[in-house]
Amino acid sequence: MATITIKDNSGNTSAQFTANSDESIGTQAQDAGAPIPFSCGVGACRTCVGKVGKGMEYIDQEAVGPKHIQTEDDEILTCIAGCKKDIPADAAIEIECENL
Ligand code: FES
Repeated sequence: MATITIKDNSGNTSAQFTANSDESIGTQAQDAGAPIPFSCGVGACRTCVGKVGKGMEYIDQEAVGPKHIQTEDDEILTCIAGCKKDIPADAAIEIECENL
């Protein structure tokens, strides 16, 4: 499974972990020590938004639920986005969170 790196809004690494495809990226990040804030938790606000610097092709934007708002092409809502299944073990994903 892929490695996910979470950066704060200054570009500093907050957490790095091996992804799983069963939980949202935001939940995994919180468990790994990067406290990405959630508000709605269901893809309807921007509180948990992350800008994907690397690895967008490995992300399922609606892995754990439907997206209710629009985001930029390079952004994900980390409360609902997850990793696609069967991504390469050496895949790397980098996400910078504006509210972290
Ligand atoms: S917490 Fe509202 S969209 Fe993720």
